Amino acid sequence: MTGPSAGAPGGEALHRVVYRSEMALVGTAAEVGDEIRAILAASRRNNAAAALTGALLYSGRHFTQVLEGPLDALERTYDRISADLRHSAFDLVQFVPLQARTFGEWGMAYVTPGELDGIWDDRPAFEPSAPLDVEALVAALRRALAAGERGVKVDLPRGRS
Ligand SMILES: Cc1cc2nc3c(=O)[nH]c(=O)nc-3n(C[C@H](O)[C@H](O)[C@H](O)COP(=O)(O)O)c2cc1C
Repeated sequence: MTGPSAGAPGGEALHRVVYRSEMALVGTAAEVGDEIRAILAASRRNNAAAALTGALLYSGRHFTQVLEGPLDALERTYDRISADLRHSAFDLVQFVPLQARTFGEWGMAYVTPGELDGIWDDRPAFEPSAPLDVEALVAALRRALAAGERGVKVDLPRGRS
């Protein structure tokens, strides 16, 4: 059995999507934290089943997400995400073919800007209107994940659950 690769035909060709959005959740920090955890749980479950990998950067006000995998699955998932009312001001930054996965180990890694300290100090503001160097973002996320404990840190205010 072969895994998804750039050389595979049609909808199996590897692609990457990068978007930014504004967080539209309301509630206490704990309630927002619960929602983010629920988003990550659904993402990890669905992405594993669809052979998608990537990282979600959450600044407290904005999301920046990199998602990669076979084109068909990526498009279906992207359609769901972009219609999700938990964010707004949705801005597609990049949708491109990819030679190889960058986040092969992570169904959906979670990163906060503080984890990029010392890795990408002159990073831009992570908001939809600011210019974004995607390759610099991807490289910084990868380095942050390599530096972290198994790469996945979920450090959010605890709510009811
Ligand atoms: C910022 C953000 C990122 C998301 N990322 C993903 C993702 O990577 N994969 C995914 O399946 N759903 C993601 N979602 C959730 C989808 O919008 C949708 O709620 C979910 O896929 C529905 O799955 P379910 O029917 O299994 O609950 C994201 C939502 C938000 C707000």
